[in-house]
Amino acid sequence: MTLLVTGGAGFIGSNFVLDWLAQSDERVLNLDALTYAGNLRNLASLAADARHVFVQGDIGNRALVDRLLAEHRPRAIVHFAAESHVDRSILGPGAFIQTNVQGTFTLLEAARAYWSTLAEAERAAFRFLHVSTDEVYGNLAAGAPAFTEQHAYEPNSPYSASKAASDHLVRAWHHTYGLPVLTTNCSNNYGPYQFPEKLIPLVITHALAGKPMPVYGDGMQVRDWLYVGDHCSALRAVLAAGRVGQTYNIGGWNEQPNIEIVQTICALLDELRPSAAGPYARLVTYVKDRPGHDRRYAIDARKIERELGWRPAETFASGIRKTVQWVLDHAGWVAEVQSGSYRDWVAVNYDQR
Ligand code: NAD
Ligand code: TYD
Repeated sequence: MTLLVTGGAGFIGSNFVLDWLAQSDERVLNLDALTYAGNLRNLASLAADARHVFVQGDIGNRALVDRLLAEHRPRAIVHFAAESHVDRSILGPGAFIQTNVQGTFTLLEAARAYWSTLAEAERAAFRFLHVSTDEVYGNLAAGAPAFTEQHAYEPNSPYSASKAASDHLVRAWHHTYGLPVLTTNCSNNYGPYQFPEKLIPLVITHALAGKPMPVYGDGMQVRDWLYVGDHCSALRAVLAAGRVGQTYNIGGWNEQPNIEIVQTICALLDELRPSAAGPYARLVTYVKDRPGHDRRYAIDARKIERELGWRPAETFASGIRKTVQWVLDHAGWVAEVQSGSYRDWVAVNYDQR
């Protein structure tokens, strides 16, 4: 049997592929365009593993997707491929509409055409798992109950609007055509292989380089952080036993303001890699806020626990320690992703703040 994973060279996708093949012998066909965010070095340990087949290509290339589906006959699609960074969506929304909306539409149409050719038992067993975000629910007022699956969609950034649009397409392809879909809405992830444009790896790598650690606005925006390995185990649980057509919220029960995250990282670095120049907190720098910045997200993850028995295995203390240690142990990976276009991004996003 085979899984088609899209975006499997990105942060969460590559963690998913590595975890999947560590626990199962089911083949993975990995379709990834290798944008700035995709990195085959994440998958280097699978280079000689026949269970992993990598194809560089765009989910929006219908002919390619049709051919891959016909050749590899996957029993499920796990769809990670996306443009994923809010700040990039503010400075250039076009790619988000192209990949997250148009690309998901193309993938759904290819999946529907393939699925309709399957024999009855295979049709019934087929799944399209759409990996989405809690940001589709928009801003949560201080003190308001965490997002349940019933919460209205109120996306506020070009990124979250494009993900919300893709969630709606996935929903409609189930209701109208009967495609057996599952959708997950997960909170902020962190862990190994995260591209250092996102808060946690950005702060760790800036600290190690002795550069300012940029905190947007007052640093009191709240996110619910989940270790990436826990997201992957939740996705495996949803794929295995999620009810078709349902959505599942995934979160870490770990709401924290950004400034506390940054302070925790500083304390860990002071312990693990003390700096001769003094405590890392000296590098914390408040900078101009992100336009339209949502103040708070929080996930109510009781449905996935009740129905599928999933809860996160890591606490934030254990997960962030592993993550900081991972960055310290993978200086080569960090140096490589920070070369070339990454420098241009840091200049574009931070020089004017
Ligand atoms: P990422 O940016 O690290 O990786 C995205 C991957 O998709 C990259 O490998 C990229 O090359 C690939 N890709 C982009 N456009 C493509 C295209 N047109 N065709 C094929 N491949 C393409 O993202 P991530 O953080 O790993 O997120 C993965 C998914 O999970 C996204 O759908 C994102 O919305 C969702 N998500 C992310 C988080 C988070 O905290 N990072 C939280 C919840 C949900
Ligand atoms: P990010 O990792 O970009 O994820 P998202 O915007 O999808 O939640 O940002 C997490 C939080 O950290 C968000 O509130 C914005 C903030 N942030 C900073 O304060 N400084 C930074 O340099 C970055 C990248 C993010």
